[in-house]
Amino acid sequence: MEKHETVRQVVTCRVCERDDWQDVVSFGPVPLANQFLPQADSYDERFYPLGVRSCRSCRLMSLTHVVDPKILFRDYLYVTPDSEMITRHMRYVVDVCRERFEMPHDGLVVEFGSNTGRQLMAFRDTGMRTVGVDPARNLAAVAMADGIETVPEFFSAEAAASIKADHGPARLVLGRHVFAHADDIAEIAAGARELLSPQGVLAIEVPYALDLLEKTSFDTIYHEHLSYLTVGTLVTFFERHGLRVVDVERLAVHGGSILVFVGHADGPWPVRPIVDELLETEQRAGMHLDATYEGFARNVAEIQAELPALLRGLVAQGKRIAGYGAPAKGNTILNVCGIGLDELEFCIDTTDLKQGKVLPGTHVPVHPPEYAKEHAPDFYLLLAWNYAEEIIGKESAFRDAGGRFILPIPEPVIL
Ligand code: TYD
Ligand code: ZN
Repeated sequence: MEKHETVRQVVTCRVCERDDWQDVVSFGPVPLANQFLPQADSYDERFYPLGVRSCRSCRLMSLTHVVDPKILFRDYLYVTPDSEMITRHMRYVVDVCRERFEMPHDGLVVEFGSNTGRQLMAFRDTGMRTVGVDPARNLAAVAMADGIETVPEFFSAEAAASIKADHGPARLVLGRHVFAHADDIAEIAAGARELLSPQGVLAIEVPYALDLLEKTSFDTIYHEHLSYLTVGTLVTFFERHGLRVVDVERLAVHGGSILVFVGHADGPWPVRPIVDELLETEQRAGMHLDATYEGFARNVAEIQAELPALLRGLVAQGKRIAGYGAPAKGNTILNVCGIGLDELEFCIDTTDLKQGKVLPGTHVPVHPPEYAKEHAPDFYLLLAWNYAEEIIGKESAFRDAGGRFILPIPEPVIL
């Protein structure tokens, strides 16, 4: 990227380096999904084009435009939420990595995109040595205060070499929901190759493009998520970089994700049958066909029409609606469906950093959950739908008092 360029159009596929795209969806200019704003009388926000195309050669789904990562990630408001589902998931990640790949108890784990260090703490609890890497200086500082050594940089071959010089080779390099955020993924592969011991494993967790298409979870499309990946695309990518996908685990987190394990191409780990099974599943789902992406675009257009109509109908009946959660993905839904202050009175969210601010684009205020005690709405639009079970479970009082939830995805329904 040029020095002063803040957004650029994607021309060459970051996986296969070809240039044969199918345009899938285009949402026009949208503000950044994690750019929560302090309350003010007027707002001066930047909008960036948001859209997705699919590479006909390797079927990477990529954003059409890339925003300078320094704008997105240097001062980052996304903090791993304090959720039971996530805490359980983090422990699970520790267990699968250690058991399947025979990690020595004092082995080194390097996590990039380590956020506030919670995942690394779960590794530290088992005795493993940990180093975090995260360019968000505000978050790296939080992790450091909790005793998790964190390098405040983007993960790269250079950062990897410097960690290796200080700590030795890593048994595990982990990137949860960060690989799909990176434009220069070749640099991540190079960093992993540099840092991993011969038996070392790179584990990346990414939203699964198959789930995106099957659930029409188009709200996971925002400027931070540059790539929407299948196992097939990742197999192609790592092969090109001297690495090999050896195992995959399908997960429910973030609306459907995959944890993909990658070893050196000449490393000791055999390729497990699940890899071929998922390649077949993807073929059967038509992930290689233009028609599949055309169908996805039609489903998105339907939600874009139906959801605002549903909410406006309720408002016309005098119902009050608030957003449950203020996730980044909620901002895609609202901005892309034209839903704003006319429909939503406020959102509640447990994240300190978001409370007291307003949502980007729509300027809906974000309040702490306690606010809803005095101002309970008739309906909650479940913007954090990926935690539906957990949230509906703990909001029994709201439901007992007659409150209802609206699920926006895979199609708008009142629960
Ligand atoms: P998440 O799904 O992690 O994020 P994103 O779309 O930003 O990647 O975000 C969930 C948001 O919902 C987060 O801001 C915390 C909030 N939340 C609540 O307010 N209450 C809850 O009970 C849960 C589970 C989440
Ligand atoms: Zn490609």
